[in-house]
Amino acid sequence: MLFKPLPVANRYRPTVSEPTYPPSVVDIEVPDLSAVVEQMQNQLDFLRDQLLESQRLATIGTITAVIAHEFNNLLTPIVSYSQYALTSAESATPDMDLIRKALSKSFQSADKAGKICAAMLGLARGESTFQNVSVQKLVDEVLLVMARDPQKDGLALRVQIAPGLMVHADPVQLEQVLLNLLINARHAMAARGGSLTIKAIPVEEQHEIRLQVIDTGPGIPEKLIPKIFQPFFTTKGTAKRGEAKGTGLGLSICKEIVEHHKGRIEVESVVGKGTTFTIYLPQIVASC
Ligand SMILES: Nc1ncnc2c1ncn2[C@@H]1O[C@H](COP(=O)(O)OP(=O)(O)OP(=O)(O)O)[C@@H](O)[C@H]1O
Ligand SMILES: [Mg+2]
Repeated sequence: MLFKPLPVANRYRPTVSEPTYPPSVVDIEVPDLSAVVEQMQNQLDFLRDQLLESQRLATIGTITAVIAHEFNNLLTPIVSYSQYALTSAESATPDMDLIRKALSKSFQSADKAGKICAAMLGLARGESTFQNVSVQKLVDEVLLVMARDPQKDGLALRVQIAPGLMVHADPVQLEQVLLNLLINARHAMAARGGSLTIKAIPVEEQHEIRLQVIDTGPGIPEKLIPKIFQPFFTTKGTAKRGEAKGTGLGLSICKEIVEHHKGRIEVESVVGKGTTFTIYLPQIVASC
């Protein structure tokens, strides 16, 4: 009867029932095995270095894309306000008030772009400047950066923030989250108009605050819901009304930032009725 030989590793593994192997066999195999192990160890070290290098490059690639995405959000108002200022300055009757206002809005967005760049790099390095922040102040700042008056796009804006609501957060990062959600909502309602509501209340029993961005846009089909927080998922294939096409990074950035704040982000959507994004963040525990 013929037996198939066992693989090398099994053949030389001593077992209780097996007698010890002839010294001659062990003597021949041991130096070879150690050479093989050393070679494999070298290969493993090499592969580990390569993996670390590709992970580093992938992180740099993602961060670059994220910064480009956030800059794009802020460059739109910078470009349009600078154009207002230039057109007025070159006209026969320059309107100094308008020029001053346009330049100050451009400056605000440019300043924010610098802060966002620093915040994104901080996030990549795992550091943040956390502080106690007023939710009302966050929302007011973001609405300033949004630049274009929502009414001009046929949007009714409602802001309902419970008084005195505070969170422990990096304000630049949280403003980015809100900005991304508001830009998505405005984009979703660009065709037909609608209403945009920003709401924040404390959820005392959970020691959390709940911040919502609610729109009455076309909604998101159920089958797309699991995909929308994935990086690079977008349905905005073509450029519309002067806006760049989507990169699909907005919501994945929101998720990353909210989770970095030990919170969570959820979505509810009904096709034809609208979409609600809800963020839960830990509430500041009042020190006695
Ligand atoms: N308020 C909303 N109403 C309807 N669909 C939405 C809404 N918010 C997000 N979506 C859907 O989720 C997708 C992913 O959103 P995300 O913000 O990540 O990327 P994007 O908006 O497509 O691109 P970018 O943020 O780079 O402009 C969108 O393409 C859109 O299909
Ligand atoms: Mg977006």
